[in-house]
Amino acid sequence: MDKLIIQGGARLQGEIRISGAKNAALPILAATLLATSPVTVCNMPHLHDITTTMELLGRMGLELTVDEKMNVHVDSSTIREFFAPYELVRTMRASILVLGPLLARFGRADVSLPGGCAIGSRPVNLHLQGLAAMGADLSVDGGYIRATAKRLKGVDLWMDLVTVTGTENLMMAATLADGVTVIRNAAREPEVVDLANCLISMGARIEGAGTDTLRIEGVDELHGTTYEILPDRIETGTYLVAAAMTGGNVKLKNTRPALLEAVLSKLTEAGAQITSGDSWIELKMDGRRPRAVSLHTSPYPGFPTDMQAQFTALNAMAEGTGVITESVFENRFMHVLELQRMGAQIKVEGNTAIITGVPQLKSAPLMATDLRASASLVLAGLVAEGATEVERIYHIDRGYETIEEKLSNLGAQIRRVPA
Ligand code: UD1
Repeated sequence: MDKLIIQGGARLQGEIRISGAKNAALPILAATLLATSPVTVCNMPHLHDITTTMELLGRMGLELTVDEKMNVHVDSSTIREFFAPYELVRTMRASILVLGPLLARFGRADVSLPGGCAIGSRPVNLHLQGLAAMGADLSVDGGYIRATAKRLKGVDLWMDLVTVTGTENLMMAATLADGVTVIRNAAREPEVVDLANCLISMGARIEGAGTDTLRIEGVDELHGTTYEILPDRIETGTYLVAAAMTGGNVKLKNTRPALLEAVLSKLTEAGAQITSGDSWIELKMDGRRPRAVSLHTSPYPGFPTDMQAQFTALNAMAEGTGVITESVFENRFMHVLELQRMGAQIKVEGNTAIITGVPQLKSAPLMATDLRASASLVLAGLVAEGATEVERIYHIDRGYETIEEKLSNLGAQIRRVPA
């Protein structure tokens, strides 16, 4: 298995481009199942999770081609199977996103139940309850969700918890349902809005995207479209934290600052100087050491759980003490044990981590455990004394496009060593 070797100490400087958002690309690829004519998706990030989704759709019989501009064309008219196998779902929980579209358009789906997950139990009960309320017949057999439906019907749904993929699955299902579906306590994440905009361009009737109440009027058929995925706010935030930790000055292009308000405000609190335009963000640290910040994660527009590990790493080398509370997922402090091996002073009490920055982290052999946790280890490696080796980086490749190239372009000393 590949590993990353990072020689700490370089101050990040320069410009890079941000890729398309993984968490918008995944549901949008699933949404191509709903269209009766081909869909073209632009600004697709090159990531393992995207390859996995394309493999999943390909196995169902869909025709997928990638053109010279790396746009992905998907034709669902050749579908022959309505099946998402365990071997793919277990590597990527977001595979559950095919359930809603398959049921809505073809009236059947066999989708493996996602198993346990490094960041908590992450059930899909709300996806299933919503589909059942819309008239689907669901059972679990041999680890698979077996679902059938005649035409789904529009209903009024109250979501017990704010769930991103749950909202997306049900919104996609509702686009072809008979009548009006209302999803209350819906997720407001920008990626949900991006999916809604893509569906609208396919002919769906959706109101309220970006608010906590979605109103979807079912139509008989959705057609193909060409759609450009929004920039990845988590990739953006990760490089900003990297720059802040190294005392660097960087400019990120092809991004959208408006999607990152909570993160930018915490970076400012940490001492960064931030300027931005519509599609770029510049962060200046001018060699300063960041100050520790306190935060708690919550659904959008709150501070994103997907940026929690990176700020834990920042606090670990910052001046002062920061308290981080993880309120979206249980058990999302896997990176803490690894950071402690680098000399970080972190005390975990339930879902809270109390982090007192040390002047100098020290390199150590590290093991990536999940996607964002792995990113935090790379960030810590950038400022540690000595060479840090991060193993099991397939987790990073799931969500960060060519991370070693982008960081090298900013002056980091990082290289990938093939197994
Ligand atoms: C999505 C993102 C992930 C991000 C997360 C929270 C994608 C592909 N992934 O994950 O990067 O960290 O949102 O912003 O977009 N829950 C239930 N029952 C359900 C569904 C969820 O109890 O049926 C719980 C979860 O265990 C968790 C909380 O709700 O505690 C939020 O999870 P959810 O928003 O569903 O996360 P994902 O959509 O899986």
